[in-house]
Amino acid sequence: MPASRRAATDQYRTRAAQREDLEAVHVLERLCFSDPWSLRSLAEELDRATSHFVVAVRGTEGGDEVVGYAIAHAAADEAEVANVAVSPTHRGQGIGAMLVQGVLAQVRAAGALDCWLEVRASNEAARALYRQLGFDDVGLRKRYYARPVEDAVVMRRSLRGA
Ligand SMILES: CC(C)(COP(=O)(O)OP(=O)(O)OC[C@H]1O[C@@H](n2cnc3c(N)ncnc32)[C@H](O)[C@@H]1OP(=O)(O)O)[C@@H](O)C(=O)NCCC(=O)NCCS
Repeated sequence: MPASRRAATDQYRTRAAQREDLEAVHVLERLCFSDPWSLRSLAEELDRATSHFVVAVRGTEGGDEVVGYAIAHAAADEAEVANVAVSPTHRGQGIGAMLVQGVLAQVRAAGALDCWLEVRASNEAARALYRQLGFDDVGLRKRYYARPVEDAVVMRRSLRGA
């Protein structure tokens, strides 16, 4: 990572999501997606044993400011990245990459050998992020998404020997 980006990401850290983070995560979820998860769905992720839920935060005098989050699921030797978002005002500083690397490290530690994800075909920013982190396009699910209806690109990354 270039020194300028390193300096930017040094302001931020990732940690396990906590119940107090959920309102802020839900605000970002509604800001970032046309078909957002509900607060209840996000809360269920905290309680699910197979879920890995991390937030990116910046320390402020008032406490941690949540600027992004990622959720992955791991079961047996397979994992999926289920959700990733960064606040629009904090993008382009390496936070998305930091979050995905964070959940990949967790699912690998939990025993996953392969990680899968789906992404809207038109989502160039996310597809580029995942490609940069070693994911390859492996398939297409026609009309997978609602609001608006759109195909999903299926991507996969091996975690073996990584
Ligand atoms: C996708 C998203 C999480 C990226 O977060 P981010 O913090 O801006 O990403 P980073 O700064 O870590 O970027 C890492 C890499 O992703 C790619 N990337 C990120 N934003 C990009 C953009 N707007 N256009 C093209 N590539 C982009 C680049 O390869 C970038 O590496 P580089 O800066 O060395 O070129 C963010 O745009 C977002 O929250 N989008 C809305 C929610 C979403 O679509 N989530 C994914 C659902 S599958």
